[in-house]
Amino acid sequence: MIPLDVVIIPDGLAHFALEQSAVVVIDVLRATTSIAAALYSGARGVLPVMTVEEAVRVSENLHRNGESALLCGEVGGLPPEGFDLGNSPREFVTEQVRNRRIVLKTTNGTVALVRSHTARRVIAGALVNLSAVVEFLHSRLESDSPARILCVCAGQDGEFGLEDFFAAGGILNGLQSISPSRFDLADSAVAALDYFQSHQDDPLAVLEQSRHGRALKGLGLGADLPVCAAYDRYPVVPRCGAEGWIEKA
Ligand code: MLT
Repeated sequence: MIPLDVVIIPDGLAHFALEQSAVVVIDVLRATTSIAAALYSGARGVLPVMTVEEAVRVSENLHRNGESALLCGEVGGLPPEGFDLGNSPREFVTEQVRNRRIVLKTTNGTVALVRSHTARRVIAGALVNLSAVVEFLHSRLESDSPARILCVCAGQDGEFGLEDFFAAGGILNGLQSISPSRFDLADSAVAALDYFQSHQDDPLAVLEQSRHGRALKGLGLGADLPVCAAYDRYPVVPRCGAEGWIEKA
């Protein structure tokens, strides 16, 4: 049986041997939702970075090498000065991102992605690509043979985030329904599964209840919530590959 765990805050990653694991990083509000939106809309790749300075440096280096990249992301939910786009999935539409590379800096999501980079496989999951992520993970079980599957919740400023825990439960629910006897659920996974199953009919209510959802509403970004809550709206699998770039699997 393959152990399934939900890492409820990124600091929990320290307890696991990532090299043997398949990791799904989840930041429903909003980084992994926006990454799925960008790739679905035709972006060539997304590079998650940890700081604004790093984002600017990487994009300048790309420019010097004759490539261009959109500088995207947020600090406190809003795009830093000089950035091309923020971190709203509504911004990552075809007209903006088709065939473009994107350097993305966010407060929690891109940090969790960078911190997971030593894992055997890293993908970005959200509600908007739930079924695609489940099918991809399941289809790669034989070839990847991960010692463990970890759903890593990006949370908010180091704290637990309800919306990421909910989506982790959705991924486990999907995996369990395809292969009920294949996985060994940690207690964190049992709890996430139970929470998802109790609330799956109203994902928007989960996002609206969450602290992060309320904060986004306070910033005037409440219109992002229905987009982030829409199951399978962007059915792509963002996969981390060479040199940290995330591309469509
Ligand atoms: C994050 O990485 O913390 C989020 O994506 C923040 C946001 O809502 O933009």
